[in-house]
Amino acid sequence: ASIRYEAESSPAVCTGTVDANWPGHSGSGFCNGTNASGAYAQFTVNAAASGTATLGIRFANGTTTVRPTSLIVNGSAAGSTSFEGTGAWSTWVTKTLTVPVKAGANTIRLNPTASGGLPNIDYLDVETGGQPPANAL
Ligand code: GCU
Ligand code: CA
Repeated sequence: ASIRYEAESSPAVCTGTVDANWPGHSGSGFCNGTNASGAYAQFTVNAAASGTATLGIRFANGTTTVRPTSLIVNGSAAGSTSFEGTGAWSTWVTKTLTVPVKAGANTIRLNPTASGGLPNIDYLDVETGGQPPANAL
């Protein structure tokens, strides 16, 4: 089972404003990151064991320009992605990615690398049922 972390709820951090003006979001709002490189959204997620977490990132990008983003887990680079245009700010799409996690609390930061910043971020669904590394068995 996955756990949903809403972008507007503590302990998430939104470098921008929590807005609710575009319909279709989950919870009470979404993170509208400042339109700038480095204006991140960060989630703190818990994992029972070290391994791979599957992330479902729900976002909307009402522009026609992709918004490239790096993934930073516990302060270390953990990959990158690009949030393509979804057709409208009210059209939300979920992108699935995997990242490594450790047992306990993990920070997962979506860090935009271009001046457009992040798309609007609704939530992160996190599935931590991945296999632990062999040396943990
Ligand atoms: C518009 C839109 C915002 C969005 C912003 C952006 O202002 O209303 O929700 O965050 O564009 O380009 O990031
Ligand atoms: Ca924005």
